[in-house]
Amino acid sequence: MQDKAIITNDSKSTECPVIIGTEGEKAIDIAKLRSQTGCITFDDGYGNTGSCLSKITFIDGDLGILRYRGIDIAELSEKSDFIETAYLIIWGRFPTADERKAFEAQMAENAKLPDSMTQQFEGFPKDAHPMAVLTSMINAMSCHHHDLFEIKDEKSFARATAILLSKIRLIAAYTYKHANGDALFCQQGEGGYAAQFLSMMFSWPGKRYVADADVARALDLLFILHADHEQNCSTSTVRMVASSEANLFTATSAGVSALWGKLHGGANQAVLEMLEGIKNSGDSIESVIAKCKQKDSDFRLMGFGHRVYKNFDPRAKIIKVACDKVLDKLGKSDPLLQIAKDLEKAALSDSYFVDRKLYPNVDFYSGIIMRAIGIPTNMFTVMFAIGRMPGWIANWKETNENPKARIYRPRQIYMGPKLRSYEDAKKG
Ligand code: ACO
Repeated sequence: MQDKAIITNDSKSTECPVIIGTEGEKAIDIAKLRSQTGCITFDDGYGNTGSCLSKITFIDGDLGILRYRGIDIAELSEKSDFIETAYLIIWGRFPTADERKAFEAQMAENAKLPDSMTQQFEGFPKDAHPMAVLTSMINAMSCHHHDLFEIKDEKSFARATAILLSKIRLIAAYTYKHANGDALFCQQGEGGYAAQFLSMMFSWPGKRYVADADVARALDLLFILHADHEQNCSTSTVRMVASSEANLFTATSAGVSALWGKLHGGANQAVLEMLEGIKNSGDSIESVIAKCKQKDSDFRLMGFGHRVYKNFDPRAKIIKVACDKVLDKLGKSDPLLQIAKDLEKAALSDSYFVDRKLYPNVDFYSGIIMRAIGIPTNMFTVMFAIGRMPGWIANWKETNENPKARIYRPRQIYMGPKLRSYEDAKKG
């Protein structure tokens, strides 16, 4: 017998169907609640709201599980690479050898930016935040691809995907060069996705940068670990924009904007700044932990806590191991890594963090890897955006292909003034 939930209000009971996901998650379907009872539901911050049915990513926050298309993140990060993972996330299956070759060829054809987009960089101040540049430039792609506004066939979708995944790298590299006052020079790199990006970023005319294989692999791993994370703030934003049938470029540009905030993707930059602050001030680990717990303080341990994970973020575990490996390989020791490890140890044995189930999240150690590779701190969130692009594209696709899709339009409970006249309002 199908589960039902009974909601009683004003002495009237209403039956709501219960939806059960493939992993046994249950949701009460309240789509008809308003028409049947006159009530809507209220869920500040959407912490308890399922906004869609999706086949892309599964998370069990209590058990610390993350799977893309059914495959555990630990297995994927060991056996796959970013392009294969991106393909899996977007199309729901691994590419054949020929499909992968064709997709990579399409990405190579679309690696460069049109001249008018390159010239646009000159309009940005050199100290512009790289996320501001990224969201603008991705939206600017809409100006160049009118033919991809209405995607009705698989060929056009594959082309739009190749354009986005390929060009985002060069936009990031040009942002870096523009900020440093360097010529916008594009070095077509060799190797995998991350190696090519590093080559675009750090090559100058006459000085070609060839990424160390282990360093490129570490960045590729970061991209895999960031590739999707179901209905987080930025992905929900992409779906929200997609629901109005807006094009893929503008929807993913909105995703970049949502990612920027320090409670979301911006946390990787905030973690590094926090660790540097601790190092420079000489504050003790105990005093930092105590600051988090002060009742009137809004200080938070950046890179700790998660809306969904009430256990270890499985990505953080993998990144911590990778972090040690990269520093070893580069022969670097970073005092910030020791501060991070000491903070983690202190927090995990402190009842404030234990009781609230606050564990290190994906951003806690990722910045230390990026810093070791030479990525400037204000570009950390751009790296996150590059990694998250397949997830945004897949979620846009799923929204776009849903024959039952409706425009996203939440309701609200109005708490403002009751009807009053213009004159009364002016009197204040
Ligand atoms: N440091 C100290 N206290 C914290 C932290 C933290 N990092 N995170 C949550 N808390 C406390 C809150 O103060 C609150 O305490 P209270 O119950 O005494 O009021 C309690 O834990 C619950 O916190 P909420 O803000 O309700 O949790 P929410 O699910 O809304 O927020 C978030 C999750 C935004 C990730 C939060 O944990 C946070 O701000 N973390 C730091 C920023 C961060 O690392 N963001 C990256 C998240 S991962 C990602 O987006 C890629």
